[in-house]
Amino acid sequence: MPSVLILNGPNLNLLGTRQPEVYGATTLADIEALCTDAAQRLGLSVAFAQSNHEGVLVDHIHAAKGTHDAIILNAGAYTHTSIALMDAVTSVDLPMVEVHLSNIHAREGFRHTSHIARVAIGQICGFGPKGYLMALDALAERLVTP
Ligand code: DQA
Repeated sequence: MPSVLILNGPNLNLLGTRQPEVYGATTLADIEALCTDAAQRLGLSVAFAQSNHEGVLVDHIHAAKGTHDAIILNAGAYTHTSIALMDAVTSVDLPMVEVHLSNIHAREGFRHTSHIARVAIGQICGFGPKGYLMALDALAERLVTP
């Protein structure tokens, strides 16, 4: 069964209490439970990781090679700053879908740039937790043979 790593970056461990007017009331644990259910229906297995540290996120991406078949990445604020994360994704050559809960293009100018988008199959933003499920759906179409 194809396996997907769902990797979340800085401050996403605080979902549920962090700026609920922007990010909603759903916790990261809730999102992981939703993803586990959806993956089961889609014929995928999922693993989860979260870190507030850029280098640790790079390590998770490296470790995905040979372990997982694709990555869903919400890099949080590192989306807008991190060439290292972009290079890490390029280095492992795994399909990656970029996800954001909020619509980064409708927010402050500094959020409009994503270094992650350059190396993503596609970007999903603005749909809250549903974005992760949309990403799983897109990856299932690529990875699961009917
Ligand atoms: C985010 C958007 C980023 O700009 C922000 O820094 C985050 C969360 C999102 O999911 O909407 O931490 O990635």
